[in-house]
Order: sequence, then C-alpha cells, then structure tokens
Amino acid sequence: MSGNTSQLQVGDKTVDMAIKEGSVGPAVIDIGKLYAQTGMFTYDPGFTSTASCESQITYIDGDKGVLLYRGYPIEQLAEHGDFLETCYLLLYGELPTAAQKADFDYRVTRHTMVHEQMARFFQGFRRDAHPMAVMVGSIGAMSAFYHDSTDISDPHQRMIASMRMVAKVPTLAAMAYKYFVGQPFVYPLNSLDYTSNFLRMCFAVPAEEYKVNPVLSRALDRIFILHADHEQNASTSTVRLAGSSGANPFACIAAGTACLWGPAHGGANEAALKMLEEIGTVENIPKYIAKAKDKNDPFRLMGFGHRVYKNYDPRAKIMQKTTHEVLNELGIKDDPLLDVAIELERIALNDEYFIEKKLYPNIDFYSGITLKAMGFPTSMFTVLFAVARTVGWIAQWKEMIEDPSQKIGRPRQLYTGAAQRDYTPIGRR
Ligand code: SDX
Repeated sequence: MSGNTSQLQVGDKTVDMAIKEGSVGPAVIDIGKLYAQTGMFTYDPGFTSTASCESQITYIDGDKGVLLYRGYPIEQLAEHGDFLETCYLLLYGELPTAAQKADFDYRVTRHTMVHEQMARFFQGFRRDAHPMAVMVGSIGAMSAFYHDSTDISDPHQRMIASMRMVAKVPTLAAMAYKYFVGQPFVYPLNSLDYTSNFLRMCFAVPAEEYKVNPVLSRALDRIFILHADHEQNASTSTVRLAGSSGANPFACIAAGTACLWGPAHGGANEAALKMLEEIGTVENIPKYIAKAKDKNDPFRLMGFGHRVYKNYDPRAKIMQKTTHEVLNELGIKDDPLLDVAIELERIALNDEYFIEKKLYPNIDFYSGITLKAMGFPTSMFTVLFAVARTVGWIAQWKEMIEDPSQKIGRPRQLYTGAAQRDYTPIGRR
C-alpha cells in the first residue's frame, strides 16, 4: 500500500485500488473495478471483511466494546435520554432541541393507531401463531393499508412512512401479543409516553384500571434504546438489500423483521432464556460449557459471542444493570435463572476456550430474564427487539435511498457447479 492506493498483483497484472478513510475505524479498499480489470471477484461469505456501504449512523469498536449512535456513546444515551430522543437522533443525525423533541413526540404519538381493518387482518392467523410470524405478516401488510406513503422517490412520503412505522409497530406488537393470549386489543392512549403506552397496550384489560409502573417503563424504554441500531447487522443488511430494488419501506422492514427472527440474530434472546431454563441449575453448567466447546456438538451458548464485539458488548453491561433494577422493583429476590446466568457468565469468562475465541455475553444474554420478569412470554422477546430496531432499519434505509450513488445490490459468486452440458432425453438417462 502506498498513500491512498493499494496494489494487487494478479498474474502479470498490477491493479491499483483506492483506499478510503472513514472518520473513525478501519479504512476500506475500493474493489469496485476489480472484476473489470482482472475478471475475478473477491470472496467473503458472511462478509467478515467486507464493508457493504458508507454510513454515518452507528459505529462499533468491537475490540474496545464501544457503540456510538451518531457519535454519542450508548451509555450516555441510555442514561440521559429516552427512546424517542434516540429515534430522532438516528433519523435526523442530531439530538433534538426541546421544541424539536416535543414536536417529534407529538407527531409519533398521533400516528400510533392502526387502520381499523388491520384488526380483521389478525383474525387470519392461528391463535397459537408465533408473534414474530404475525409481525412479519402485519408489517408487510402495512403496504396495503398505507399505500399513500410508499412512493420512495417522494421525501414527504418517505418521512410519513418512517413516522408511521416508528409509531405503529409497537401497536402491532401489542396486538400480536393480545391475539396470542386471547385478550381484546387495547387502543393507544395519547396521554402516555411511547413506552408506557406500549406497556398499557400489552397488559391492560377491560376489566380493571391499568397503572403503568414508571420503573418498568423506564427500564423497557432503556432496553429499546440499546436495541435501536447496530451498523450493518444481518437484518439491517436485509433491509438495505430489499430497499436497493426500490421495494416500498413497509416491505423492506418486513424483510428485516423476518431476518431478525433467526436464533443466531434477534431470536437469540428467546433462545438464551430457553437455554438457561434447560440448564436449570448451577450444577448443570459444566455439562453445557463442555457441549459448547465440543466441535461435534451443534450446541452454542446463546447470548454469547458476536461477529464484531471481541470484548464485552457494552449493551450487555447496561442490560445486566437493568435486570437487577427490574427484579428489585418486582421484589424478585432469588431468580434461579439469574443465578444460572451470572454463574454461567463467570465460568465462561474464565474458561480458556471462551477467552481464546473472545466470546463474551452479548445483548441477548440478560434481556430474556428482564423481559420474562416484566410479564412477557418468551415468544415476545424478539418482537420487542423488532419494535426497537425498526427505527434503526428505517434510518439505514433512508440513508441508502438518499445516497446518490445508491444502486441495486447484486453480489456475484464462486460457481462450482456443472459446466455446460447437453440435455439427455429421459429414455437415455
Ligand atoms: C445479535 O450483528 C449484530 O450486530 C447482531 C446484534 C445486533 O444488535 O443486531 O448484535 C444482535 O444478533 C447478537 C448475537 C446473538 N446471537 C447469539 O447469541 C447466538 C450465539 N452466538 C453465535 O451464534 C455467534 O457467536 C454469532 C452468530 C453471534 C457470531 O458468529 P460469527 O461471528 O460467525 O462467529 P463464528 O460462528 O465464526 O464463531 C467463531 C468461533 C467458532 O469456533 P471455531 O469454528 O473458530 O473453532 O467461536 C465459536 C464458533 O464455534 N463460537 C461459539 C459461540 N459463538 C461462536 N462457541 C460457543 N458458543 C457460542 N455462542
């Protein structure tokens, strides 16, 4: 490498490629012309060394365990702000003034109701459908109910669609939960803040007054902040790829929701709690640690490890603190699952295998214990992740759509299948 270019020797050819520096973090080598100049592709399944885009939204330093939203450390945003402030920051790039925040809160609050016919849409699902299946379907169905904000070339429609999703996805999530437990849907209440409103839509019943617990509402609001965005993770990359074809924003967010469901990604909070329940007691931990280390055993410690964090996930630290806050508020003194989680973390962090592979608890390790204590069933955990990540997906989608250099994403491949051959009539096979 010399100056701002790097050179690649391919056979007798020397290919010059520009090096682009970011504001923070690793530089990139622009390989855009590699195929034209060499007839070869790069090969990086899982994109472990590939930057798919330029972005100004979120930055992670995996070695230092740092997470910044538009430059602000996640610890400060979680400590001092609320989730809608983080939404404003991710969408517009700056922290809002008091007037901007009040206007944003007002606009989001007045988009929280969904089209009344969506309630009938839910009736099509089996009662025991997984709430994430309902979320993928109902978010996608928003394209049918809000067709007047699907023209992505119109900045006004892009803004309306963004507000509608930030505001309505929690309502759909609460409806998915109510449908799952067989209780009537609860309409939003504009006098409540975003997260209190969500808790009430989930847990209020017509038979009695519902009082929001401010400690739980603050805790869930902080959990939403922690989950709001995370660079080009699998579901965000799904949203960007879907959006690059010009698909409408509701369809793109539905695609991201589908991807988030996987247990290696957003489904890990549900899987981590199920794993803690399966381990059951502190005495069983060594058996599961051995399984996690056994190359022939597909078992992995859910809630551990991360593609980017090779240090402690900063969100997991805040999550752990929130877990203790919630359990104390609810008077849950000795939660056996928490005992297992704390002991499992202690053992894993001192085990050679986990140290060598730099496996630390990630955001999903403690979230399940907290959400279960709040009264959410395990199947709702990833739904809550989707509620929070919707704003990150939209911010990243918006950034891509507004990037003049944006084009449809279309990766190539290393083909190892059959070379061309002629059709053989069935009688001669
Ligand atoms: C999220 O990308 C994001 O930013 C995601 C996310 C976000 O906010 O969007 O942070 C949210 O998805 C968090 C991650 C939740 N997933 C889990 O907790 C599931 C368990 N974790 C693993 O599946 C895994 O750690 C991944 C998927 C998270 C990361 O996988 P990588 O980067 O592809 O790492 P890898 O599978 O190549 O693992 C490296 C090594 C392997 O051993 P070797 O093949 O080198 O011998 O570490 C081992 C793995 O076997 N390993 C684990 C492990 N995770 C990795 N071994 C035991 N238990 C684990 N959890």
